[in-house]
Amino acid sequence: MGRLQMIFSRRIEQTARENGSNIVLALDFPFERAENRKRLFVKAEKVLKSVHLHVCAVKFNHHLVLPLGTCDGVQKLIEKAHYLGLQTIMDCKANDIGSTNQVLAEYYFDAGFDALIANPFVGWEEGLEPVFRVAKKLERGVILLVYMSHKGAAEGYGQTIIDPETGGKTPQYVAFARKAVKYRASGAVVGATYPERISEVHKILGEKVPIYSPGIGAQGGSVQQALKSGSHYLIVGREITQSANPSETAEKIRESTRTA
Ligand code: XMP
Repeated sequence: MGRLQMIFSRRIEQTARENGSNIVLALDFPFERAENRKRLFVKAEKVLKSVHLHVCAVKFNHHLVLPLGTCDGVQKLIEKAHYLGLQTIMDCKANDIGSTNQVLAEYYFDAGFDALIANPFVGWEEGLEPVFRVAKKLERGVILLVYMSHKGAAEGYGQTIIDPETGGKTPQYVAFARKAVKYRASGAVVGATYPERISEVHKILGEKVPIYSPGIGAQGGSVQQALKSGSHYLIVGREITQSANPSETAEKIRESTRTA
């Protein structure tokens, strides 16, 4: 698992250095009817091209994978992103039994994704183990959810649990942060909307596992607070994709990371 972490983590680290940006663009767009798929592809390609110099990676979600499919539409966008020197992440939140997770990981990695996001709620054995195994073999990354960015996150990630490994009471996200270290995950997701959680998780992860923080802008999270609390990468979607000038907005956000 060590090699897996080294390789994807190093790739994104290097791109971030080269582009002077730790922003991950969430390439998300509102619902479009099937007959408008071509238009959606063109819109996504245009935003990708216009902001690529201001970001280090592009994160895809169901917003594009459902209407465009992995084999043709999204694969072409991944090729474009790679051509532009960016890493690609699939935000599928893998969350099923191991055999299904394995097929899902194989499809996404076959489409060209460099990393995918997985949910540690499903556990290791017959859960995430096959995802990490496939990722390691293909030199891809697995990023674990630790504390999500939305308002209801506390209902799951914020629960107090009896940690099966220590027998003691622990917040769920603390147990997940420990798992991120144990599994040698390539990253841990903690919402920018919860800077105090970022600080707590950062203390557990140190520099071993970088923190990815969604929730900047549209969800109310702040660039400065997230970075000061220990986030390494900032995931930004609607603030850029819905902007009248995505390139200018991405550049402004990148500039604001420099003064943090
Ligand atoms: P916005 O438009 O809010 O988009 O900037 C954020 C993107 O990130 C996804 N998202 C998350 N993904 N853990 C994740 O793995 C999270 O806690 C989380 N919060 C938001 C969201 O679906 C969108 O693609």
